[in-house]
Amino acid sequence: MAKMCCLGSNNKMTMTIRETVDYLRALDFLTAQLPRESLRLFFIPSFTALSAASACAGGIDLGAQNMCWEERGQFTGEVSPLMLREVGVSIVEIGHSERRHIFGETDEMANRKVLCALSHGFTPLLCVGETAEQRACGIADEILRIQLIRGLRGVSAADAGRLMVAYEPVWAIGAGGTPAAPDYAGEKHAVLRQTLCALFGPAGAEIPLLYGGSVNLENCGPLALLPEVDGLFIGRSAWEPAGFYRIIQTVLPIFKIKNGPC
Ligand code: 13P
Repeated sequence: MAKMCCLGSNNKMTMTIRETVDYLRALDFLTAQLPRESLRLFFIPSFTALSAASACAGGIDLGAQNMCWEERGQFTGEVSPLMLREVGVSIVEIGHSERRHIFGETDEMANRKVLCALSHGFTPLLCVGETAEQRACGIADEILRIQLIRGLRGVSAADAGRLMVAYEPVWAIGAGGTPAAPDYAGEKHAVLRQTLCALFGPAGAEIPLLYGGSVNLENCGPLALLPEVDGLFIGRSAWEPAGFYRIIQTVLPIFKIKNGPC
């Protein structure tokens, strides 16, 4: 079977319910004809927009930007896996750089969420990435290995096939971020792939590895060409349906050649 190409966008704290619905309707219209056997297209809106989004997402999978590791209880401000199931979520984003660096999430918390997401039938999308300081100190590879090993602790090789991992260097993300040069991203994806294979054996080679951080129309092609890049996780450049669609049109033929016919 051909490897899945995964293309998604994290909307962070950006669109309202109305804006999310308009966006998804337009994106679904633009992408409705794309074959889905080897493409997973997803969008991760704000929590408040999920319910309305699930009514109009069409062929676009929906994700949540975070999730509690408990089903219910005294966890003010958290969202339960049961609540996410109610609103049609299939992907749970875990350990995004902004969660780790603004809200203090640790690898241990990410790990609890990964295990909880798996046990509730979601696809966990674990995000990892080094800071500029860690890169400057020459410890980026170690940081990536630690984030994967600790974040995926207790995941079985049988469940590994249900994971997605995004490499998002912290210094590359958001306004003011610098996109990773393809050579650099390629090196780090190779480190991540080796670590996933060491953890899960052959199943580690099948886990979709996405690059994220200032992806745009100019750099999406060179990034998609990298051997260990199976998809892109995009912020700002995907927040206009036409802009996201142009990126999709640019990279799909590249992934098709890399991954082979389905
Ligand atoms: P940008 O593409 O806006 O840099 O954001 C990337 C990101 O954080 C995706 O999760």
